[in-house]
Amino acid sequence: MAFTSLYSLCGAGFALLQLLAPAMARPIARSTNSSTLVALQFANVLEQLESTFYAQALQKFNQSDFTAAGFASAQVPLQQFQAIFQDESTHTTILQSAINALGGQTISNCTFNVDSLLTDVPTMVAAARLVENVGVSAYLGALTLISDTVLSTAAATIMTVEARHQTILNVLAGATAVPQAFDVALNPSEILALTGGLISGCNLGIPANVPLQVNGSGPIQAGTKLNFTSAALNGTIPVETLSCQFLAGGLPVAISQPLSNCSVPANVTGSMLVFVTNSSQPLANNIRDAATGTIVAGPTMIFIDNQPDALAIAARPGLNSTCTSSGTPNATTSFAAPTTVTLTPAAQSTVTMASTTVSNSWTAVTTTISPSEASSILASAVTSMSL
Ligand SMILES: *[C@@H]1O[C@H](CO)[C@@H](O)[C@H](O)[C@H]1NC(C)=O
Ligand SMILES: *[C@@H]1O[C@H](CO)[C@@H](O)[C@H](O)[C@H]1NC(C)=O
Ligand SMILES: *[C@@H]1O[C@H](CO)[C@@H](O)[C@H](O)[C@H]1NC(C)=O
Ligand SMILES: *[C@@H]1O[C@H](CO)[C@@H](O)[C@H](O)[C@H]1NC(C)=O
Ligand SMILES: *[C@@H]1O[C@H](CO)[C@@H](O)[C@H](O)[C@H]1NC(C)=O
Ligand SMILES: *[C@@H]1O[C@H](CO)[C@@H](O)[C@H](O)[C@H]1NC(C)=O
Ligand SMILES: *[C@@H]1O[C@H](CO)[C@@H](O)[C@H](O)[C@H]1NC(C)=O
Ligand SMILES: *[C@@H]1O[C@H](CO)[C@@H](O)[C@H](O)[C@H]1NC(C)=O
Ligand SMILES: *[C@@H]1O[C@H](CO)[C@@H](O)[C@H](O)[C@H]1NC(C)=O
Ligand SMILES: *[C@@H]1O[C@H](CO)[C@@H](O)[C@H](O)[C@H]1NC(C)=O
Ligand SMILES: *[C@@H]1O[C@H](CO)[C@@H](O)[C@H](O)[C@H]1NC(C)=O
Repeated sequence: MAFTSLYSLCGAGFALLQLLAPAMARPIARSTNSSTLVALQFANVLEQLESTFYAQALQKFNQSDFTAAGFASAQVPLQQFQAIFQDESTHTTILQSAINALGGQTISNCTFNVDSLLTDVPTMVAAARLVENVGVSAYLGALTLISDTVLSTAAATIMTVEARHQTILNVLAGATAVPQAFDVALNPSEILALTGGLISGCNLGIPANVPLQVNGSGPIQAGTKLNFTSAALNGTIPVETLSCQFLAGGLPVAISQPLSNCSVPANVTGSMLVFVTNSSQPLANNIRDAATGTIVAGPTMIFIDNQPDALAIAARPGLNSTCTSSGTPNATTSFAAPTTVTLTPAAQSTVTMASTTVSNSWTAVTTTISPSEASSILASAVTSMSL
């Protein structure tokens, strides 16, 4: 079952999502323009998801809902959510233009199931924070698929704005605005593990890693023991051969532990990605060298929120009142109860892509990409990065 559980409080929190083992095919000779198109189409779908999410959030919640969630004033979050929504809508449109200019078509028949993220304002804010953190990782990973420097720079101009959104959402979630000096790049299969449960009805041709979720809905802090639910954890692979791996910005490799004794590492604040692998060999924090073939499930994303920034407390003073002096959340207040979100399962988290005709305007070569070819192109592009 692909579902997401979200939890976010000032003291600690986590959010889980889904994924599928990247079936990296053998490299095949393909034009890099095709991988560019796939990357832009993928980015466009993620922007559609974000736009849908913010549009529905702004429609659903009124000013009292925001103040009840502990914000100093409803204007504090509303102004930011409106600005972010405008950005995401603009990104959607501009990516569509770029795709069309390359002779491709946007994937326009996805359904985005965001209802479960909109149960209340704390859930919505936590979900938005997660979506923006994932968005930054998605663009970082997609940049490597775009060979043309004009287009890759254009994509980077979007990515930096997504990072601003991520920062604002960290603040609105009552956490640390800029918790780490680096972000983490994820490949599209990893991104789909995290987001695929929200997307259905369309075909991206990208295999999703098997989703992974953390059991329970309590706070997560350094030392918290984690256990997991995943379709891949069904007893087929003996648990003693499995590892859990934690990845955060700036770590050269993931922190690897036995799955049976998996505790959140010390000294990390902010988001961490968690994988289950069939090797204890730490995953490289490197989109070229990461040994993705050992990934059995994940990533999922957790948040470790030790020290709310003063800025975050100023924006949302009501959330501070839920914290003990050690930063441990007091989950008993009315507006900040732990939130568990269940997402509509995606069709095996495989978002498939319609056949797309690519008319390359630079080379006048016309290529038709079927969903399976799109998958191969991506795999090829990812594999070629390791050469
Ligand atoms: C398109 O692909 C061709 C052949 O691989 C390459 O020469 C050209 O530079 C590519 N153009 C872009 C914009 O990526
Ligand atoms: C705001 O929405 C809530 C439900 O989410 C409703 O109970 C409340 O009456 C609304 N308040 C205003 C001022 O519209
Ligand atoms: C989405 O569009 C593609 C291409 O137009 C089509 O093959 C597919 O069946 C559509 N999916 C749905 C659910 O309509
Ligand atoms: C799994 O984690 C929960 C806390 O989330 C804990 O209560 C439970 O004992 C753990 N189960 C196992 C088998 O470790
Ligand atoms: C939690 O994880 C354990 C394995 O450690 C699993 O057996 C159990 O079913 C899970 N519980 C829930 C509620 O998912
Ligand atoms: C059980 O997990 C293995 C990998 O861990 C996977 O290949 C297999 O398809 C899973 N079986 C089911 C029924 O999900
Ligand atoms: C579990 O891991 C901790 C360190 O993370 C270690 O101190 C402890 O001995 C381990 N327990 C077992 C049973 O392996
Ligand atoms: C955490 O940081 C403290 C202070 O820098 C250091 O003493 C400690 O060894 C670190 N712990 C781990 C597990 O890295
Ligand atoms: C580890 O998992 C990958 C992906 O599921 C699989 O291809 C590989 O054979 C596995 N390796 C081992 C040693 O089980
Ligand atoms: C936040 O809560 C902590 C612990 O109760 C308290 O020490 C601190 O002064 C509070 N900060 C603000 C800005 O209210
Ligand atoms: C919140 O936590 C504080 C400190 O642990 C405690 O004194 C207080 O009673 C808690 N509030 C509620 C509503 O449980």
